[in-house]
This record gives sequence, C-alpha cells and structure tokens, in this order.
Amino acid sequence: MAKLLDEYWSIGPVGIPSRLVLAPMAGVSVQAFRRQGRRFGAGLVCTEMVSSAGLRHRNKRSSEYLRIASDEHPLAVQIFGSDPALMAEAGRMVESAGADLVDLNFGCPVKKVTRSGSGAALLEQLELATRIVASVTEAVSIPVTVKMRSGIEPGSRACLELGPLLAEAGASALTLHPRSARQMYGGRADHSLTAELAARAGVPVLASGDVTNHADAVGLLELGAAAVMIGRAAQGNPWRLREILSGSSYEPSHAEVVAELVHFMRGATRELGERRAGGLLKKFYGWYLGHGRFPKPFKQQLIGCATVAGAERLLLETVPGARERLEQLENEPIGASETALELPISLYGGG
Ligand SMILES: Cc1cc2nc3c(=O)[nH]c(=O)nc-3n(C[C@H](O)[C@H](O)[C@H](O)COP(=O)(O)O)c2cc1C
Repeated sequence: MAKLLDEYWSIGPVGIPSRLVLAPMAGVSVQAFRRQGRRFGAGLVCTEMVSSAGLRHRNKRSSEYLRIASDEHPLAVQIFGSDPALMAEAGRMVESAGADLVDLNFGCPVKKVTRSGSGAALLEQLELATRIVASVTEAVSIPVTVKMRSGIEPGSRACLELGPLLAEAGASALTLHPRSARQMYGGRADHSLTAELAARAGVPVLASGDVTNHADAVGLLELGAAAVMIGRAAQGNPWRLREILSGSSYEPSHAEVVAELVHFMRGATRELGERRAGGLLKKFYGWYLGHGRFPKPFKQQLIGCATVAGAERLLLETVPGARERLEQLENEPIGASETALELPISLYGGG
C-alpha cells in the first residue's frame, strides 16, 4: 500500500506521527525551531550536531544541548565524533537526557569536522564507521540512526556500500542527503541513490535534500523512502511544513507571520539569553519576512534594532493585528525547562 505523508510510522519502538521530519541544522535547529516544527506537523525533530568530545569534557555549550522540552518528543539528538568509545559515552548521555533517538552524523562536510575523521570522513572508513555504530548501539537502549551524504568525492556511491553495513551493525534507520561532501550544497540532491539505498538497506531510509513541496515529498515516498526530511525550506517558514503535508498551498497573513516570529523570538531568548538570541535571530528575520511578505527596508530596520525587545516592539507596532494570535500562542501549554541555554559550536552546513 502507498505510504502517506501524514501517517504514523516508527523507528524501532519509537512511534512517529508523520513522515515529515525536520532536518538537523547547525545554528538553526534550536529548541524554539524544533517545537515550532512539531506544532506545524513534523513527526520527528532533531537537534543540530553536538560534539561527542564536547560532551565528554562537559563543555557547557555541548551539554546544554541535551536539555529537552516535553513537547519536542519524538526527538533525536545528533552527535558527531570518530572515537567509538567517546561516541558510546555521548550516546549514553543523550539517552539519559531523555532523547528518543540518537543520530550519528556521518555527513558533515565542514573541514573542521572532517579533519578529525568525523562527519563525512567516515563515509570512506567502513570499518571505523561500523565500529562506531556497533559501539553506540551496544551502549544505549534507544534506537541509533545515522545521517549520511552520498560520499566524499563528486559521483561517489559510498553510501550504498556503507549503509547496509551500518544497518547490520545496529543502525535502526538511515538518512541520506545524496550530495557528495565536496558538493556542499551545490547542484541537486541525487535521490536515485536514496531509492537504491532504500532497496538494499533493510531499515527505513529517510530522504533529505531539496524537498520543497508536496509533490517532491510524495515522489520520494514512492521511490521507497520511509520519510522525508525538510531543512532549508522550513527556515522562517513553518507554513511550508503544513503545505508539504497537505498538498494545499497557504499564504500566512502578516499578522500570522509576525505572531509566529515574535513567539519564536521570545522562545529563542529564553533558551539562549538575549545576546546569543540577538545574533541568531538576525538570520531568522530575513527568513520570516522574505518570500515577498514584507518590503526589504523593513527587514533592514529590524536587523538594525539593538535589542530583541526593540525588534519585537517594532514588529508589533507595524502589525498590531498580530497581538491576538501571539497571545494564543503564548498561552498554549509548553513543557520546557525555561532556563537560558547557549548554542553549541555553530558550523554552517553540518551535513
Ligand atoms: C545551515 C545548515 C546547517 C546544517 N547542519 C546540519 C547538522 O548539524 N547535521 C546534519 O546532519 N545536517 C546538517 N545540515 C544538512 C541538512 O540536515 C540537510 O541534509 C540539507 O540541508 C539538505 O536538505 P534541504 O535541502 O531540505 O535543506 C545542515 C544544513 C544547513 C543548511
């Protein structure tokens, strides 16, 4: 029977309410982003990658990434590293923090990460990569998943050889972003590789890369993917998740956009503290107000605000109609620890 985007599925014992998954993105996938993604229909959300060495050394930023709100579940925490014992220890910390899944990053193309043998470097280290999966799987009782790229060099099909080995070593699901590491984000994701991997992996395969609409997503399920991951298309645009799920297009009103943005700003500020949130939010202003929704000079004005509170005032003065929706959002029950968190190492393009 054909799979449906809005149906329940599972990875091992973890039930997932839709086949839409919010991609892990360094410097983006903060708790406010993940919660919003769940609210707009993502069945599963994921933290950005967290360093296993950082966790071992009780690095403040890495450890703080293990704070999980009750309304995020099901949630995967992604870790990276190349030492099987350290990765196992990090996996145990992720499990005791309450994550539903531990995801291993075998796809980050950034030199700072691959230089140490982590991320995409593992795509061509079959023996070490399988040892890492086996070691983490043995250490935890939650399912272990792996997110990969297709290979290191353009045209590489390394994922097709490695993927089934990782499944044999204990991975309960695999995500493929079918671009080579060298490609970074250029060209198009080659989802014929996703189809091939899905046919031979023996575990669910999630498709990541260039999914921006309902037809793309349905097409990937037809190719054999168990679920579809949405990354850049959801940045500042949670409505896109609903559109992808339902197949009906939707243009939010100015009031909805501003209410969601201000709600996000408040969440990010509670999470990261005013200073760090201020830096993070500058990217999000453009993403929310883009798509032809607001004129460019307004975006610039917002970015120029010295404080998050100042930006909020400007938004609500410009679109007073947002107040009512904002109040509803703020009154929705949340289950988080509301302490200030800090972002972990923020690397553009963790996978
Ligand atoms: C800013 C940014 C940060 C990313 N960080 C991570 C990460 O931490 N871990 C990871 O596995 N992938 C990371 N990725 C890759 C995405 O998860 C996803 O695979 C990729 O963006 C392709 O999907 P998209 O076309 O839907 O954006 C990142 C991508 C972007 C754009």
